Amino acid sequence: MSTPETLVGGFPSGFRWGVATSAYQIEGAVSADGRTPSIWDTFCRVPGAIDNGDTGDIACDHYHRMPADVALIKDLGLDTYRFSVAWPRVQPRGKGPVNAAGIGFYDRLVDELLAQGIDPWVTLYHWDLPQELEDAGGWPVRDTAYRFAEYAMLVFDALQDRVTTWTTLNEPWCSAMLGYAYGLHAPGRREYPAAIAAVHHLLLGHGLATQQMRAAAPRKLDIGITLNVATAYPASDAAPDVDAARRADGMGRRIYLDPLVHGHYPADVVADLAREGVELPIEDGDLEIIAAPIDVLGVNYYFSQKFTGYAEDGSTVDGNGLPVSRDVPLGRPRTAMDWEIVPEGFTDLLLGIARDYPGLPMVITENGSAFDDVADENGYVDDTGRTAYFTSHLGAVADAIAQGADIRGYLAWSLMDNFEWAYGYVKRFGIVRVDYETQTRTPKQSALHLKQLAALHRVGRTA
Ligand code: FCB
Repeated sequence: MSTPETLVGGFPSGFRWGVATSAYQIEGAVSADGRTPSIWDTFCRVPGAIDNGDTGDIACDHYHRMPADVALIKDLGLDTYRFSVAWPRVQPRGKGPVNAAGIGFYDRLVDELLAQGIDPWVTLYHWDLPQELEDAGGWPVRDTAYRFAEYAMLVFDALQDRVTTWTTLNEPWCSAMLGYAYGLHAPGRREYPAAIAAVHHLLLGHGLATQQMRAAAPRKLDIGITLNVATAYPASDAAPDVDAARRADGMGRRIYLDPLVHGHYPADVVADLAREGVELPIEDGDLEIIAAPIDVLGVNYYFSQKFTGYAEDGSTVDGNGLPVSRDVPLGRPRTAMDWEIVPEGFTDLLLGIARDYPGLPMVITENGSAFDDVADENGYVDDTGRTAYFTSHLGAVADAIAQGADIRGYLAWSLMDNFEWAYGYVKRFGIVRVDYETQTRTPKQSALHLKQLAALHRVGRTA
């Protein structure tokens, strides 16, 4: 049984303890100070797209409550805050010069964080593409990569004197696949070839922005990307199951990390795509750009899955003659997202990245869970499920560190309950409860637990 002391003993000195959020999920104020609509503002208006018809119009009203929210992070004793910048605030309509009022918000946020001794970690893109760029084709169109790099430099010029750690994209898999293949996220398209083009253009945009920020940096900065990745286990040793797991790992993990780190797409994935009749729209020189060196890989982990290559009727090919792949339960308890709780999948994932992409420092940029919280009359939530999730997953990170993985920090998702995309406000991931009627913030048990761990680690009280 791990105690807080034994748990924090598994993390090196200098290890970061923090929290993460994203712009559209917390800010609200969607038309303040010149902000124009993003694809999420549009998607939220599509009937049936978001549970309950929720939108990010108000969200946590963070745009107007920012200093108090920073004070909350300070009270929790956390040293890092990862937030994202809303492209349509900084560069309305996705073109033209910087919008002074829009960037002003992030300028004040960075100053407020530094004044409280909290390190600001900027994510440039957490899914809120300006609607005009989607109208021009969105991420399936090559030009969007160049537009992204241009926007990135606007933010960079304004904040690089005070921000040391930069993430280009959050979870390009979600942007490409949920947004353009499955239609579950904005912009809600279901066009598989377009989604595969989006994968490449997102990576290209990352590479262009990384190169340009690096070239302009007057000092050593940490630049990287954040991926949502998981371990894909085969359901058995049978060849179709092993191959289904290989394909899931290929489309979920290696299609991003291989070009980022090794400068080429994985041959098996390219062959799988060809069999499906789609192709990555690679042009000369793209792979060198995408492989621009990065300093830190952000890892977002929520769950792992087991895959089988057999359909329920036992066949191994579907109606289109393509190999079957479907996930089957591991048989674990689940969170309110219906995601299985698989901490050892986290250890296996981190060790796999350390093995396949050696020399790449990692920070956990998101990890957390939604549960059906019940607040008492004071708004306090005794969230034992979420607290146990944090404990087991921090233990999984410590196990990976003990086995040689270079992991330099852990940022919990999320600072507070917020707009959980297609699930609206029903799913709560916060370590701080938000009462959306009054916008009151109340730290949950899990927040107090992370506060205790960070404090023990800071003073070196380990066992
Ligand atoms: C991740 C997203 C984040 C949040 C969590 C639950 O995929 O990056 O915004 O929605 O999932």
